[in-house]
Amino acid sequence: MRELPAAATLTPLFVTEVYRTELGGTGLDSLIVQLDKVCEKMASQDAEGKGWADRQGYIGYTSYGSIDDLVAFDPAFADLKSVLNVQMLAVAKMLEMDLRGGTLELTNMWVNRLAPGGAHTGHIHPHSVFSGTLYINVPNGSGALQFEDPRLGFMMHAPMRTANARPHRQISVPIAPQRGTLLIWESWLRHEVATNRAATHRTSISFNYDLKT
Ligand SMILES: [Fe+2]
Repeated sequence: MRELPAAATLTPLFVTEVYRTELGGTGLDSLIVQLDKVCEKMASQDAEGKGWADRQGYIGYTSYGSIDDLVAFDPAFADLKSVLNVQMLAVAKMLEMDLRGGTLELTNMWVNRLAPGGAHTGHIHPHSVFSGTLYINVPNGSGALQFEDPRLGFMMHAPMRTANARPHRQISVPIAPQRGTLLIWESWLRHEVATNRAATHRTSISFNYDLKT
């Protein structure tokens, strides 16, 4: 058998990166508490949103189809927008994006209060640059956010990776959030919300950002 080269290396190319930071346990704890209260109030009072969720087969409550401008709806969302604006600049910088003088602007924000048994099948967020979610209420067993390798369609003959392969070599990777976790990813990255197997609901706030020039 021929000897392997002594200094063989693997070079990561075309890497897909997901941004994660924990806002819980920081000076933003009070904002998370405030957002939790507002989300609960919305879930009990927003009849239009509840009706929309029912018609879409969404198990739980979402403001997606009823309240277009959460920032104008409650000051807590305006505060969250300010936080996210800063985070978004950090993400773009870490990803070494050339924004060509443009700015990343919030285009949509919505509340998800996923009831036990609820899930959200694989999807992307069209017409956006970045998407993300802030987790407000995450009971044990309420599921992870599952990201899918965007090259999956090219892998017809590729061998699967072993079950213990490192995350960057898997074709589907779960990220389990906790209260206060903020995740941001590029909007073309397909993801799905695993079934909430907890006894109570999971609350999160999702958003899209687009590049304005
Ligand atoms: Fe999504």
